[in-house]
Amino acid sequence: MKKVTVVGAGSVGATCADVLAKKNFLNEVVLVDIKEGFAEGKALDIWESSAVNYFDTRVKGYTNDYSKTEGSDVVVITSGLPRKPGMSRDDLISTNAKIVKSVTDNVIAASPDAIIIIVSNPLDVMTYAAHMASGKSAHQVFGMAGVLDTARYRAFIADELNISPMDIQALLMGGHGDTMVPLPRYTTVAGIPVTELIAKERLDEIVVRTQKGGGEIVNLLGTSAWYAPGASAAQMVESIIQDQNHIFPCCVRLNGEWGLKDVYLGAPVKLGRNGIEQIIEIDLNKEEKELLYTSAHHVKDVMDVYDKMKLD
Ligand code: LAC
Repeated sequence: MKKVTVVGAGSVGATCADVLAKKNFLNEVVLVDIKEGFAEGKALDIWESSAVNYFDTRVKGYTNDYSKTEGSDVVVITSGLPRKPGMSRDDLISTNAKIVKSVTDNVIAASPDAIIIIVSNPLDVMTYAAHMASGKSAHQVFGMAGVLDTARYRAFIADELNISPMDIQALLMGGHGDTMVPLPRYTTVAGIPVTELIAKERLDEIVVRTQKGGGEIVNLLGTSAWYAPGASAAQMVESIIQDQNHIFPCCVRLNGEWGLKDVYLGAPVKLGRNGIEQIIEIDLNKEEKELLYTSAHHVKDVMDVYDKMKLD
C-alpha cells in the first residue's frame, strides 16, 4: 500500500495530486484543505478523470481531517498564501510560518514515519520551520525548489537552442529566490557543456530569467505558478516511493558542506526510499562559492525573522 498525502488543495497541491494520480504508481493520494469541501471537490474531479487518463490510483479529499492521512509514506505540504504581484516570497513569512508549523504537527501525529516535502514559500525557511516542528532527521524533511528552478532553466535553454528540454541536464543551488545560483559549468546538453553552445552574455540573460522565473509568472497571472511546481513535487515523490535515487537539487539543511552549517539551501542530493540518501558535495569555484554564500546569508536573515516569531 503506497499512500501520499498532499496538504493544500489549491492549484499547486491539486496539480501535484493530479500528476501523481496520472503516474499511476500509488494506491492512494489524499488531499487535505481547510476550506470546506475544497479538497473533496478537487479530489473527486481528479478521480473522475481516471477512466479517461488511464489510472487507478484512488484520489480522496478531506476538510482538515488528518486522521484520513494516517500511514502516508510521503506528505507534500503546499499550504499557505501564494504571492501577489509586487511581493517577494519572503513577504509571506508571517502568515505561512504559522500555517506550515501547525500542518506539520498534524501530519506527524497521523504519519510519524512519513517523509515530508515542503513546497510553501518562503521555501527555504518554511523547510526550516517544518523540520523543527517535525522533530525528524533532516534527510526526511526537505523542500522542493531546485527541481522547479532547473525545470525553468532547462525550458529556457531548450527554447534558445530549439532542442528537447529532456536532453538538458542542469544544476542549480542556493535559496529559492533571486539569489539562487544556476551553475552553467554543470549544465550539459546531450553531454555537451552548455557553455560551448550558448555565448556567455546570452547564458547570463537566461540565468537571470531563471532567477526571476517565479516572478515572471506572478506578473502574468496575478498569482504564483502551479503546473511546473506541482509536477516538480510529484517527480520528487516518485523518486522516493520508487526508490529511483535520482539526483535532484533540493532544499536541505546543510551540515558543514561547502563550509555552511545549519542553513537550509538548495543542493544536489540523491533521493531514494529514505528521503535524502546523500548530499553530493560538488566542487565549486571561487565565484560560485561567493554566490552560494550570498544566497546562504539571505536565507539566514529570513530564518532569523522566523526565530523572532517565537512560535511554539
Ligand atoms: C514559484 C513559486 C511556487 O517559483 O515559488 O513559482
